[in-house]
Amino acid sequence: MILQAGCAKSSSMNILLIGSGGREHALAWKMNQSPLVDIVHSVPGNPGMDEIGPCFDISADDIDGLEKLTLQIEPDLVVIGPEAPLALGLADRLRARGFDVFGPSAEAAQLESSKAFSKARMADYGVPTARYGCFQRADAAKAFLSQFEPPYVLKADGLAAGKGVVIAKNRTEAESEIDAMLSGKFGAASKELIIEEFMPGEEVSLFVLTDGEGAIYLPAAQDHKRAFDGDTGPNTGGMGAYAPAPILDAICLNEIKTAIVTPMLEGMARDGRPYQGVLYVGLMMTPEGAKVVEFNARFGDPECQALMAGLSGDIVPALLICATGGLKGQEAAYESLLELDQFHPTACVVMASQGYPGAYTKGGAIKGIQAAERHKGVKVFQAGSDKDAEGKLIANGGRVLAVTATADNLDDAFDTAYSALETIDFPDGFYRLDIGWRVRRQSHSDR
Ligand code: AMP
Ligand code: GLY
Repeated sequence: MILQAGCAKSSSMNILLIGSGGREHALAWKMNQSPLVDIVHSVPGNPGMDEIGPCFDISADDIDGLEKLTLQIEPDLVVIGPEAPLALGLADRLRARGFDVFGPSAEAAQLESSKAFSKARMADYGVPTARYGCFQRADAAKAFLSQFEPPYVLKADGLAAGKGVVIAKNRTEAESEIDAMLSGKFGAASKELIIEEFMPGEEVSLFVLTDGEGAIYLPAAQDHKRAFDGDTGPNTGGMGAYAPAPILDAICLNEIKTAIVTPMLEGMARDGRPYQGVLYVGLMMTPEGAKVVEFNARFGDPECQALMAGLSGDIVPALLICATGGLKGQEAAYESLLELDQFHPTACVVMASQGYPGAYTKGGAIKGIQAAERHKGVKVFQAGSDKDAEGKLIANGGRVLAVTATADNLDDAFDTAYSALETIDFPDGFYRLDIGWRVRRQSHSDR
């Protein structure tokens, strides 16, 4: 039976969502629109999520606390947003307690939490990616550099809050980075490092909802990782995104399904580590075809905000079938509940605190969200925000707001998002003015 609105058991679903970022605000907002859902509880949540349902003050990596809360709330579905609780085994624990969980096991989540594991699986399953080597000793790592031309790509094996990848321009820089990483720059996360071939090309993010066997492909999205205009400045978690990304046409998508996603899902299942949840496939569109840059075990942020705002249909049935199993052969039915063929072009621009991704100030006032949301098609998702003693909204993190707009085409979506941004009063914040430059330039030159 395919779960949809009107089905008696389902119209009072109680959901527990883990996380507090813009990604999770978007998920909470979207799930809360489902006619199947009665309540979305969030933990720890943020002021935006607090307007949707109750929030609980437990950290997303306190998995004992989260397990206890889940036993109290007895949700019909648990949705895990960030990577940290996945890597710590929250999904395994809650499944062992009999809950339906959207999110991979700790073993499967190693596709994100260990780059060495991820690269080894890609090699096992013949999935195209950059050539690489894996090292614990500096002398061997330095010798391996001779295999490649500069720039050199160096990656800490473990989770390093999005900072574990360094692209070194020359050999001297690469060698000093090797020394820094192996002597603990990222603690245990860089006890081992990966050196890989630099792949030229355009990046695109693909999100696959899966129960381990079946797969639903959401529209591709593009993120902007650098802090400043012109793709300059340090890498961030992501300063803006849009979907669909025209670079990934139907032919490319079919090749990626056949050469990358199907072998990964089949290989993981065959090896006893079925992957359940959302598989984030970070791709480089190289002259030789699409290759994997990385896998993540969660939705991207801010790609998720663009995807949730752009989806016309109900996401809850798809999340639930990924948690319970039984998707294979039923994909078309779930795609039609998601109304994938009616996805609205969506633009998302992030407002961050001055200084991000380095040290930034906290406590600055934020006004004008309601005015921004009066623009047609605009939703402002919150991330690093809080309320002060008087209940006024203030900044409390690096990335603070994600101003998201849907329209009939991407150009209009960006125009609307940028008009809405002008109504937000956040003196301590900044944002990029050129989010979507690839698609915007292209659509202007087509006229
Ligand atoms: P990762 O955390 O592996 O996604 O890497 C962070 C960013 O570094 C990616 O989004 C790319 O922009 C860049 N990057 C990582 N690996 C490569 C590579 N082999 N070639 C070119 N760029 C890369
Ligand atoms: N936006 C990139 C990420 O979520 O990793």
